[in-house]
Amino acid sequence: MKIFVDSANLVEIEEALRRGFPAGITTNPSLMSKEDRTDFKLHIKRIIKLCERYDRKIPLSVEVFTADPKAMVKQATEFVAEFGEYEGLNVKVPIGWDELAVIRDLKTRGIRVNCTCCMSFNQAIMASAAGADFVSLFFGRIRDIGYDARAVVESVHRVFKERSVPSEIIVGSIRHICDINEAFMAGADIVTVPPQFFRQMVSHPKTDEAVNQFLNDFKKWNAPVEEPAPSLHDKHPANNAAHRSAAK
Ligand code: E4P
Repeated sequence: MKIFVDSANLVEIEEALRRGFPAGITTNPSLMSKEDRTDFKLHIKRIIKLCERYDRKIPLSVEVFTADPKAMVKQATEFVAEFGEYEGLNVKVPIGWDELAVIRDLKTRGIRVNCTCCMSFNQAIMASAAGADFVSLFFGRIRDIGYDARAVVESVHRVFKERSVPSEIIVGSIRHICDINEAFMAGADIVTVPPQFFRQMVSHPKTDEAVNQFLNDFKKWNAPVEEPAPSLHDKHPANNAAHRSAAK
């Protein structure tokens, strides 16, 4: 059960890496387009540098940005030429008839593939049959058109498990916290999560209440004890312990 970061934002990625939980990173052309305009390859190299700085050689999905299958293969080989030294690199290829040949081609070149944009059971099994290392199911988008995303993930998981299919299931297109929980319960190997959910995933009002109570109780108990000022009664020689023992 692994959590990936679904982002191309360097600050968000670093915030997550610093906390040690990410097992991978997924990007896509839309996520890239949210970043300040820059050289695409340079940006991916910056993400790789961050992973290396935190000593996390985790999978990083970089998606092709063309609809032409030949150009997909060309781009994928360029990615490998540019970033191939990073062992976690995998190329995201959308599911499709001609794209199956792209997956096959990339696999014969030893390139790891994440077959993305899968919305159905059939697409997932075709992607894995063509050799995809990862099969990405888009939870939110499956629901958008009225299908039961959980059931899709469950059925893909069941078949992959029963038949020992080596492809890993990534669930993406997360819109709510409960999507993450449901995806894991349905058998996702990986959920790729937009960073805005991470804080919420570790927050709970009862946790805040418990932590504040512990701190306050301890603070009260640990506060320096003030010596009470001696009263007139204590000062009278007859009531003074030192005086009494000296008199014996
Ligand atoms: C997954 O790898 C994709 O990057 C992502 O989850 C797509 O989700 P969207 O539906 O928010 O575009």
